[in-house]
Amino acid sequence: MFALIHDLGDKFEQGAAEASINVTIEALVAYVDIHFDHEERLMRDSGYPAFEDHKRAHEALARRVAKLQEDWQRAPETFDVEAMMDFLSNWLSEHILKVDMKFAAYYKQQ
Ligand SMILES: [Fe+2]
Repeated sequence: MFALIHDLGDKFEQGAAEASINVTIEALVAYVDIHFDHEERLMRDSGYPAFEDHKRAHEALARRVAKLQEDWQRAPETFDVEAMMDFLSNWLSEHILKVDMKFAAYYKQQ
């Protein structure tokens, strides 16, 4: 996910073609889904007590990413790239450091 976000930043910075940026955004949307599904399966299978809250955090991010994709496709010329990049990298770091780490500690104990 970090690699895709990084690629996206590079493409915007280099003024890559819209089609090329779309490819990376689509890959990010798809990967977010795959990654969250996998994590949620582990949480469900291990009987993680905070599963529902964690899943809700994932759903909120997936919705936000879908909205970013929509906004970008609708109006690329006014799209706030910096705000998107800040949001994505902050969300991911925060989520991994706080929310995912709690699950990791639980999972290791099981
Ligand atoms: Fe997570």
